[in-house]
Amino acid sequence: MNTERKIPLILDGDPGHDDAIAWVLAASDPRFEIKAITAVAGNQTLAKVSENCRKIAALLHLDIEVAKGREIPLIADLMTGGDYHGETGLDGAELPAPEHPYSSRSAVALMADVLRESEDPVIIVATGPQTNVAALLLAYPELKPKIRLVSIMGGGLRNGNWTSAAEFNILNDPEAAYILFHAGVPVLMCGLDVTEQAMIYPAEWQTLRGLHNRVADTVAAWLDFFSIKLKELGWEGVTLHDPCAVLALSHPEIFTMKDCYVDVLLDGEYTRGLTMCDWNGRTGHAPNCRAVLGLDREKFVSLLIEACRGFGGGEENA
Ligand code: RIB
Ligand code: CA
Repeated sequence: MNTERKIPLILDGDPGHDDAIAWVLAASDPRFEIKAITAVAGNQTLAKVSENCRKIAALLHLDIEVAKGREIPLIADLMTGGDYHGETGLDGAELPAPEHPYSSRSAVALMADVLRESEDPVIIVATGPQTNVAALLLAYPELKPKIRLVSIMGGGLRNGNWTSAAEFNILNDPEAAYILFHAGVPVLMCGLDVTEQAMIYPAEWQTLRGLHNRVADTVAAWLDFFSIKLKELGWEGVTLHDPCAVLALSHPEIFTMKDCYVDVLLDGEYTRGLTMCDWNGRTGHAPNCRAVLGLDREKFVSLLIEACRGFGGGEENA
């Protein structure tokens, strides 16, 4: 990714431990300029994830607006993932108090203003249900040319995780995902195909504590907490779902990707939220996304550790 000017980003998510770690990666890369953070209900209620957004912004010293998005999906009922991410939605680490009040604008209004005011097209990194992104596309279709790319964590072309067919972010708001995949904007899809390979193991994240800075210590504490539930389910490490949606932008060379046509199923007791991939072009539809399918795990982990190292230099420990 070579560019003279910084690439403007909007971070939209439902932090959530892996959203938070994805945002650490985005904030660590000097090629990006984070223009706004927008909260969407998912891992926890909107109120809780919004508060987490402001605390993460404070931890990363991001002097940007944080706006609250949709409290519920476009049509579906909200499902939260509380037992994975704890009562607050981001349990496990002491975080700094928010440094700024919430934006006076809604998430969609703030996203639209960022798109309008940006000299260059903007990348939206969406790591929760795509509710806010869909609402933006419905409300301001004329701003599509100002969207360079929507990089999502969502879906799975061979399996789900919330059901065997559907992944959590998509299943939470299938209509929103459908709108995104049919909007005609570039989509980079980091589904479970790659994110379940993006595993970090305890011995690897314990090294973060040797970096002696608050962000590194916080990420290690988040991973300690996030691993608890996953371990009960038989995972030996933590699947870093959302960080893929950032590193696939900044380090595409460590990933494998394929352009393909993906559709989102809305019906069926057991198929709703399924992301169907037209692997062999049988539908006649042109590709509508770039699906990320694999990665070099060790390089992925070392990039995370290096990103955390970059927050050193006088930071007090957590
Ligand atoms: O299925 C994984 C996704 O659901 C991640 O974005 C995680 O944060 C949860 O939102
Ligand atoms: Ca998320």
